[in-house]
Parts: sequence; structure tokens; C-alpha cells
Amino acid sequence: MKKIAVIGTGYVGLVSGTCFAEAGNHVTCCDIDQSKIDKLAQGIMPIYEPGLKELVDKNAGRGTLQFTSEISQAIRDAEIVYIAVGTPMSVTGEADLTYVKQVAQTIAENLNSYKVVVTKSTVPVGTGKVIQTIISQYSSAPFDIVSNPEFLREGAAIKDSMNMERAVIGASSDKAYEIIAELHKPFTSNIVKANVETAELIKYAANAFLATKISFINDIANICERVDADVSKVSEGIGLDSRIGPKFLQAGVGFGGSCFPKDTAALLHISKDCGYDFKLIQAVMETNESQRMLLVKKLISALGSLKGKTISVLGLAFKPDTDDVRSSPAIDIIPLLTDFGATVRAYDPIAIDEAKKKLGYQCSYSEDPYETMKQADACLILTDWMEVKQLDLHKVKSLLKQPLIIDGRNLYQIETMQRLGFTYLSVGRPA
Ligand code: UGA
Repeated sequence: MKKIAVIGTGYVGLVSGTCFAEAGNHVTCCDIDQSKIDKLAQGIMPIYEPGLKELVDKNAGRGTLQFTSEISQAIRDAEIVYIAVGTPMSVTGEADLTYVKQVAQTIAENLNSYKVVVTKSTVPVGTGKVIQTIISQYSSAPFDIVSNPEFLREGAAIKDSMNMERAVIGASSDKAYEIIAELHKPFTSNIVKANVETAELIKYAANAFLATKISFINDIANICERVDADVSKVSEGIGLDSRIGPKFLQAGVGFGGSCFPKDTAALLHISKDCGYDFKLIQAVMETNESQRMLLVKKLISALGSLKGKTISVLGLAFKPDTDDVRSSPAIDIIPLLTDFGATVRAYDPIAIDEAKKKLGYQCSYSEDPYETMKQADACLILTDWMEVKQLDLHKVKSLLKQPLIIDGRNLYQIETMQRLGFTYLSVGRPA
């Protein structure tokens, strides 16, 4: 049983802290946001994540998980201090380390005994050294630095954390490596031991590689449309090669979320900083941006003009099973539609409150998909929610003014849609 302080109760900090507690450790999750801490103490989750509340309640109930804004005390009591604060993208694309540096300073001020200081946040290569320098400047107590990046997916965060495919541990000493490796025993037997810088880079390389797969298949989809080929068959055909694998080959409206857009931009920045021209990652980002526009162009060419038209947008979250709308296709596309003169009615089962914070009243919102379709000129599918996959298509057809569906997630069989009499335009598949 280890005593752990996790600083930052965002996605990564809250989920990791809860899973460490579930594995039998004593965890204190800290945040400077008192209202967030108060809510967590009452069992109110700041994010929607399947299974999280149950685990928080269980561990808070048995005393293995605590929440506090008294960060200094939590650091003093802990043997392991996890830094899980945000590293938002700055205007230049660089990861902003302001919060990480502030936490390093607080750790230094409260270093009363040997501690392992671990970064869980996605941080640029070299951040471990920066933290080391800050702490050593203010304190002479012993400590070690570890980079232990997070690979969980939103919507599957608990599953991913309790059963990790691998843990990456980049430690500044063997002692610190052993402590963090021991902590991960209940979660995985695959541990990649590296130096701190390598572990930091592994995180960016993993996300950038997955983003590259998506942009690659989206580029192939665009070729498919020009040569009458079907991208879903191309994905199947290449994905069965075990060297390629079937995952992250789903063509569509492009990737979103709080990680891929931010991490590809940050990796480009890291490469520029070390004098390397990473052309591939630049192209991955450009393809992703143009993929959003492609759907809008399809809509305009099908309707002639968007002026005075009503569009039903299905899906605001960047992917299913989350209420996260950061860099979500809908957040990029809805303002474009309204700029072109369209009235937008948006559906999402859980992300409406989050979307309202970004889009305000640029569109109307409904938790009933059919409500958004009444006499609409077209339906635009932006999130692959199960609720959208399972729509009653006869009802959809009867509600729309004209049976036009632009599907940015390739949810339906083309033959079915044709049989039902829809004009159905998807991504990289024959119209
Ligand atoms: C991603 C990684 O998958 C996690 O391993 C990583 O820990 C996390 O970022 C992070 O750095 O914190 P996440 O952003 O939750 O996880 O979402 P993904 O499931 O990876 O999806 C990202 C985006 O790619 C979504 O917009 C999704 O719709 C899109 N996508 C995914 C596609 O367009 N096609 C695909 O085939 C797969």
C-alpha cells in the first residue's frame, strides 16, 4: 500500500487516482478548484465517464480515496506525487507548462522526505528535467523524477486503466523505477523501462501515430471517392494484415478530442525546437482540418446553398460515450453552417451542456434526435453514437423535408439507404 498524492482532478488525475485506490493504495486527489473538490467529496463527478462514479463512491466509502484542496498537506503525507494538471495548447501550438511549473514549486516547498515525483500529464520532452531543476532550486531533500504517461481513452478510461496494454516508466533512478513498477503490478505485466525523455516522447509518438492512421485512411477515402472505390473495404483489406491492424482505420470527419489535435501540434513544435522538419505530422494535421470542410462542401453541393436551410446535426461530442466537446467536429462545423446562413438544430444524448459553453445559442439543442429533424433540409451525422446508428430510418425519412443525409461517420449500409430512398452521402464510399 502506497501513499499517493495526485495533483489535478481532470480526466487523467481523477481516473488514475481512483484506479490506484481501487488497487489498494491510499490516494489523495488534490485540486485548487474548491468547488470541484466539494462536489467530488459529495460523489458528484465533474466528467461523464462510464463506471467512474461507482469506483469513486466505493473507494471514498472505504477511506482509500480522499479529495482535498490542501495540496501542501497532501504532498507532505505522500511518498509518490503524481502531477496530472492540464498542459493546454498555447497559441503557438506549444504545450503550456504554467500549471506543471507551479505544481513543481509547491512540491519543492513541501518536500519533507524522499518522494517520487511523477508526470502523468502529457508534457514536452525535457519537462522532467525542468521539474527537477525547479525542485532542486528550492529544496535539498531527496527526490526522483519519473515520466509515466497515460494511455487511457475517454469513454473507456476505467477499463483502460485497470487493464493497461502497457505501462511506460521513465525514471531518473532504479529506486524510483522499482517503486512505480510495483505500483503498476495489479494493472499490467508489460512495462517499458526507459529514461525520462524517452517516456515523454513515447506518449507523443503513440498519439501522433494513431492520428496518422486516421489521416492516412481519410486521404485514402478521398481517393476512393474519385475512383469509385469503397474505403471501408480498403480498411478491411489492409487491416487484416497483422502488421497494420484493423483499429483507427475508420474514415470520417477527422479526429477531435483533447489529445490528438493538441499532441500532434505539440509534437510538431518539439520537432521544430530540436531542428527537425517533421513533414509527415504537418500533413496529418492539414488532412484533418480539410476533412471537416469536406462534409460542409458536400452539404452545400447537395443543397445548392445553405441560406435559409435547416440542418439537423447529430452528435456534438467528439466521440461516443463522453460529454467532451473539445476540438469536436461539431464545434468546428456548426459555426460554418450558420455563417453560410443555415439554421442548425443539434442533437446529442449527453454533451449539450458542454456544447452550449462553446457554441452558446448559435444553434438549438435537443436530446431527442427526431425533434431536430422535423422539416429539416438535411441531416449531418458528426458523432458515431449508438443512438444514431439505431435510428428508425423510416421515421427519419418521414420527418425530413427532403431525405438527404450527409454521414461523417459511415454509420449505415449504402444499399439500405438507397432502398429506403435516401440521398445518402458518406465518406470514401460510392454514393
Ligand atoms: C486518445 C488515445 O486513443 C489514448 O490512448 C490517449 O491516452 C488519449 O488520446 C490521451 O492522450 O489522453 P481519446 O482522445 O480519448 O484517446 O479518443 P480516441 O478514441 O483515440 O479517438 C480520438 C479521435 O479519433 C476521435 O475524434 C475519434 O472519432 C477519431 N477516430 C478514431 C477516427 O476518426 N477514426 C478512427 O478509426 C478512430
